[in-house]
Amino acid sequence: MEKIVALCKRRGFVFQSSEIYGGINGFWDYGPAGAELKRNIKDAWWNDVVRSRTDVVGLDASIIMHPKVWEASGHVTGFRDPMVECMKCKGRWRADQVWDEIAGSKWFESLSRQAMPKPESGSVSYDAQHLLKWAVHDGKHLAPELALVRDPQLTLSWLSEREQKQAGKSLSLPEFLSCLATSQASQTGLQTPCPVCGAALTEPRQFNLMFETHTGALRDESSKTYLRPETAQGIFANFLNVLSVSRQKVPFGIAQIGKAFRNEINPRNFTFRSREFEQMELEFFIKPGTDAEWHQRWVEERLKWYESIGLPKEKLSQYVYKKEELAHYASACVDVMFEFPFGVQELEGIAARGNFDLSQHQKFSGKSMEYFDDESKEKYIPHVVEPSAGVDRIALALLCSAYDEETTTDEKGQTETRVVMRFAPRIAPVKVAVFPLLRNKPVLVEKAKEVFKLLQRHFTTEWDDRGNIGKRYRYQDEQGTPWCVTIDFDTLGEKGPELKDTVTLRDRDTMKQERVKIADLVPLISQKLRG
Ligand code: GAP
Repeated sequence: MEKIVALCKRRGFVFQSSEIYGGINGFWDYGPAGAELKRNIKDAWWNDVVRSRTDVVGLDASIIMHPKVWEASGHVTGFRDPMVECMKCKGRWRADQVWDEIAGSKWFESLSRQAMPKPESGSVSYDAQHLLKWAVHDGKHLAPELALVRDPQLTLSWLSEREQKQAGKSLSLPEFLSCLATSQASQTGLQTPCPVCGAALTEPRQFNLMFETHTGALRDESSKTYLRPETAQGIFANFLNVLSVSRQKVPFGIAQIGKAFRNEINPRNFTFRSREFEQMELEFFIKPGTDAEWHQRWVEERLKWYESIGLPKEKLSQYVYKKEELAHYASACVDVMFEFPFGVQELEGIAARGNFDLSQHQKFSGKSMEYFDDESKEKYIPHVVEPSAGVDRIALALLCSAYDEETTTDEKGQTETRVVMRFAPRIAPVKVAVFPLLRNKPVLVEKAKEVFKLLQRHFTTEWDDRGNIGKRYRYQDEQGTPWCVTIDFDTLGEKGPELKDTVTLRDRDTMKQERVKIADLVPLISQKLRG
């Protein structure tokens, strides 16, 4: 993952937000290549989900909406994560993620290496002498607030007492680590250690993930509004408007792409969990009773779409929710999962949400959300299937799967490692780069500018005349540009008329170059782009 993060900065895909001020956790900026990549993802989704269908229309709703929207949706009362806080360093973690954080912490890694043999079948064995040694040496720097480090004798003596009392019963890893974080078990009970400093964590507390703001001059309860935590509610709140203007009939969908904001407790894994991100959401309204059929259709459709943008089939999977994991109003939910370097994680959720959202808005707004079905002459509140995807997660999945290192050998037998981003051409930030062989030969530059202008009308095209051709190819490989066009002396006809007005077209993946007539470039690249 470090290599991908480094490339993202080096080639202008992703920068830390406000980097010159030390950055701000959970916020990211997309550089020139990243902005194009994201735009291509959104265009691909919009084209495939909206424009190429007759039963989906688009929407672009405001980010800040009436606060009642979030009361109706349940976000004001329900959009909470239980969170724990370190009593010393004040770090915060999601309660359900804290053990993963501990397992990945520096102090745990050092402790398990030096003082604990590998836990067998979930139970822990330890050596008190090794624990003591770790506590007075490395523990002092890595986990200064851990009870074992602050008072090793006290912690070890009650640990051994506890063992004797529970003779024969093995300790699980969380239990063992909690013992190391506890000085006075009789007073506090077992405590969970902080992943950073080792001090005890608080009990879980509820934490609302919505960012609050105020509209207008007054800053009181009456002016409180929220930055939307999902784009979906803008769609539900506009259901009647869109229905009245779009000439659509159920089944039909409303799609929206836009920013969403969540005050995530632990933004993590680069851009994977951010506090500001973009969603691409579709609410597909259906007749009650057709939920299972439409849900299945959308799951299949969405999985195919991920392959169409170049994510390899073998890295994609589905997580089908068990009945007990579903929200009370949902009849089915499937997550599209991707194998990231940090584990298999969600890209998109596809949920059959019944008529929960429209019913809630009917209740809170007093406006009827009923639909009159011309064919069956029935009135009903439509049910909905919601495929909801994250642009930033898809961008990250594409960056991870495109990254490749390849060892090449030149004619002189010299080997070199080239980094190449193997994006599907459809999604690549720049489709074609144009180079004059030499930047100090005006005739070459002039001809190359002509070719550049020609291509620029059809494709995202980049001009590059810095460094030598080899360096330019390496730069474009790292940016994932599928084709490079070089204008050389042959183009000018210096080696004879047969090569005049031809250029070299170099393929990113094979590194092969072919000689192509300038007049054939646009149709040839267009054909390659279509695949
Ligand atoms: N309207 C349903 C909804 O918002 P969700 O599973 O909370 O469902 C949908 O979010 C998608 O939005 C996720 O699958 C993910 O791709 C993206 N997403 C959610 N939280 C995110 C975060 N903190 N950072 C980046 N993407 C996020």
